[in-house]
Amino acid sequence: MTRRRVLVTGASAGIGRALATVYAREGWDLILTARRQAPMDALAADLAAATGCDARVLLADLAGDGAVTDLVDRIADLGLTVDGLINNAGFSRTEGFLHTDPDAQQAMIRVMLTAPVALSRALVPGMVERGFGRVLNVASLAGRMPATGGDTLYGPIKSFLIKASQGLWLEMQGTGVHVTALCPGYTLTEFHDVNGTREEVSSAYPAWMWQTADHVARVGWQACEANRPQVTPGIMNNLMAGLAKHLPDRMALSMVGGHAKRLKRI
Ligand SMILES: NC(=O)c1ccc[n+]([C@@H]2O[C@H](COP(=O)([O-])OP(=O)(O)OC[C@H]3O[C@@H](n4cnc5c(N)ncnc54)[C@H](OP(=O)(O)O)[C@@H]3O)[C@@H](O)[C@H]2O)c1
Repeated sequence: MTRRRVLVTGASAGIGRALATVYAREGWDLILTARRQAPMDALAADLAAATGCDARVLLADLAGDGAVTDLVDRIADLGLTVDGLINNAGFSRTEGFLHTDPDAQQAMIRVMLTAPVALSRALVPGMVERGFGRVLNVASLAGRMPATGGDTLYGPIKSFLIKASQGLWLEMQGTGVHVTALCPGYTLTEFHDVNGTREEVSSAYPAWMWQTADHVARVGWQACEANRPQVTPGIMNNLMAGLAKHLPDRMALSMVGGHAKRLKRI
């Protein structure tokens, strides 16, 4: 049987690393991409040894000019076919809209919004042609909430990714291409170390609210195989998103405002 190959962005850490592991265990070959080579080389070697997969590592800074075109060209030059795309790379900045460096804001938009769109536009046509494909977009519970004070652009970017996934899911009916937006809540990864808020989030939210990257990745895999347009791991996360959706806007905003204050973001 022909082996399938998945491209995983943000594969050097956290949820991306866990997703690469799930796909390898499920019999897929991999293309791992991010900016840091060493953790991806180690992951590729471990997964190749454990599962027999073929794992390639391609470095890319998705905030860079022409990064997606360059990455897609390098994949084509290697003669690799991409049957699955996991748009996972991401980060947040929590110091407030007016205090965030404009270049960092552009980088957020490029990495989490422009790159997923461009990668999907480049790779999904081939999936449709071959009658098989998987697109798993790692969004966030934040994208299902009314706003994110302090990291003002993060929520809207993730809302965009959820809505774009739903639209593509509708368009892909009957093509063999599955599309899913995965919306994790608090997940134990490097994410809150990178944005410098580990202490605040750890003291504001109890351990039981945190999920492991392995669990989140497994839920994402299952949802994409089942072709669910959207999945949010965890009962509490679904309760919070449901509450925010049904409350009047002002009350919902006040709820997330309390969250931002607890985290000292506003
Ligand atoms: N952790 C959470 O609580 C949580 C909750 C909801 C949603 N999420 C989402 O889950 C996804 C993965 O986050 P995580 O929690 O696994 O965080 P993480 O451990 O910090 O991993 C982030 C990944 O993104 C990559 N990345 C960051 N900037 C990049 C760039 N300019 N170009 C290419 N790759 C880049 C990083 O690789 P390099 O540094 O090597 O480039 C790393 O592999 C993100 O989209 C995040 O928004 C996380």
